[in-house]
Amino acid sequence: MNPSTINTLFTGKFLIQLKEISSTNTFLKDWLSNNKPIDGLVIMADKQSKGKGQSGNSWQAEAEKNLTFSVLFLTGFLKVTEQFLLSMATCLSVYELLCEKVKDKKIEIKWPNDVMIDRKKVCGILIENSIQGSTVLTSIIGIGLNVNQENFPGLTTASSMILNGYQGNVEETCIRLLEILEKNYLFLKSGQYEKIHQRYLQVLLGLNEELLFSDSLSSFKGSIQNVEKDGQLTIKTDDGTRKFYHKEVRFISL
Ligand code: BTN
Repeated sequence: MNPSTINTLFTGKFLIQLKEISSTNTFLKDWLSNNKPIDGLVIMADKQSKGKGQSGNSWQAEAEKNLTFSVLFLTGFLKVTEQFLLSMATCLSVYELLCEKVKDKKIEIKWPNDVMIDRKKVCGILIENSIQGSTVLTSIIGIGLNVNQENFPGLTTASSMILNGYQGNVEETCIRLLEILEKNYLFLKSGQYEKIHQRYLQVLLGLNEELLFSDSLSSFKGSIQNVEKDGQLTIKTDDGTRKFYHKEVRFISL
């Protein structure tokens, strides 16, 4: 991929493209410990042998058919208490990309940061921040987007862009996503926190809809009322309104 074809100010202008690596997030973290940080640096891989997912899970993606990359942003403007807004801005970027490329399908963000088409997951995001005091110094944004993979053996809840009618290649998908991501990142940097928060809520899966959840103790019915700026999910249940951080609750029905 040629960086000059990406219509951004800085995102993807420094680009490291690898055939195979364990994980682009891990590579970028190691790179950072030996180099001066570059805002908007992108690490892409055709294949990850040890792709990392949320909660210590692995991320599986067929080589060359999907987008697996990490972007470094220098986020010194962002307070630790505001870090979930970067997650929201990233989800919204993938959401916008899918709205451009996939027609007549329901595209939604599933809390905290999955992007879904017709309630199946097509994108996972793993953000790893480095914190100093109350500030987020750097953020590694890892994105795994299923583009041209057609089979997901054993995974009934996964899907891809091609399975939803998209006909395009991984490279053009990546270029467009980097452009949208930079636009939303700059929007965040300019302090538009409220707008990002509202847009995220507008496209949130399950808002005001009765769904089945479970916490560490039991399953329960409830409807999502809000996601707060710090990322907490608010669910209205028969026992009152309850709030959860990531990993404290999971969706049972979608
Ligand atoms: C999830 O579990 O939903 C998050 C998946 C994140 C996967 C991406 S692929 C590129 C980057 N490198 C990794 O090792 N993980 C992220």
